[in-house]
Amino acid sequence: MQRITILRPDDWHLHVRDGDVLNDIVPETSKVFHRAVIMPNLVPPVTSLEAAASYRERILAAVPSQHQFQPLMTLYLTQNTSLDLIRAAAKAPHIIGFKLYPAGATTNSAAGVTNVANMAEVFETMSECGVPLLVHGEVTEADVDIFDREKVFIDRYLRHLVEQHSRLKVVLEHITTAEAAQFVMAAREGVAATITPQHLLMNRNDLLVGGVRPHNFCLPVLKRRTHQEALQQAAVSGSSRFFLGTDSAPHSQSNKENACGCAGCYSAPAAIELYAEFFSRMNSLDKLENFASRFGAEFYGLPVNDSKITLVNESWQVPKTVQVAGQTFVPYWAGQELQWRLQI
Ligand code: DOR
Ligand code: ZN
Repeated sequence: MQRITILRPDDWHLHVRDGDVLNDIVPETSKVFHRAVIMPNLVPPVTSLEAAASYRERILAAVPSQHQFQPLMTLYLTQNTSLDLIRAAAKAPHIIGFKLYPAGATTNSAAGVTNVANMAEVFETMSECGVPLLVHGEVTEADVDIFDREKVFIDRYLRHLVEQHSRLKVVLEHITTAEAAQFVMAAREGVAATITPQHLLMNRNDLLVGGVRPHNFCLPVLKRRTHQEALQQAAVSGSSRFFLGTDSAPHSQSNKENACGCAGCYSAPAAIELYAEFFSRMNSLDKLENFASRFGAEFYGLPVNDSKITLVNESWQVPKTVQVAGQTFVPYWAGQELQWRLQI
């Protein structure tokens, strides 16, 4: 196959930061994706409708005039999120859901939820109002090994949450384990998962063999190969419960190559090409369109996009570095080849 044309995709999990960085990175996403679910883990976090509305305006102002792009905003759930805010969010046209970060699980999650078990009223109100819950599914208890944190979160909290609130739409974000894929596959209707390019293309050997590779470090952390294979099977299974969410999460080179390096892979500069690389390696390019452009929209009850994009079978190299807001950033897959190129 020399070229493939698919419906324009959407990114159902994206970090665009703020300020000068935002201005430089939004076009990397808007050049190919029509919509993206914007994560609220700014400092301070996006916890109010007003903050989300002004953040949305800043994002729209950064979209080049030749692109069409819709940011779908999320609100950051805290232990103090009010039921009134949930009811108001349900009526707000640009809010797509609430993001649950267990406090301390990842970048800028300190204000997140400290006691998931105490949030039943909040989840039930979301369920009643039809507001989706987007979940960073990792426990933060210090005695739980970092490689087990997703599985333990599912067993300790998520299984029960999904059953207790039987109409709540739940997205388990950036899944990394066989247990997560199985959980989502077997769960009731209204439960889905996003999968990142790095969790499809890599496993923890790519993080640790031959030296620590800080640019492959994200959270939840890459797992062993058997988990990678389970995610790969989920992505090519054709199940509409699994869809594209890059979790592109830029940090500057100096913040990544650091004694305490930040978690996050900046995949936006090559996002759709990375997924094409994965589906192509699996001989499943015919599954790319549903995964990238249909299943997410269907889950959220939104129309699929009416425009299309074309990828050509032509190898190219992801830049070793890019300049963002006057600083050097190392994109995910930097310096490596990809076999599919976006035709602009
Ligand atoms: O690797 C990650 N980076 N995982 C997250 O959950 C957050 C993200 C970020 O904001 O940098
Ligand atoms: Zn994220």
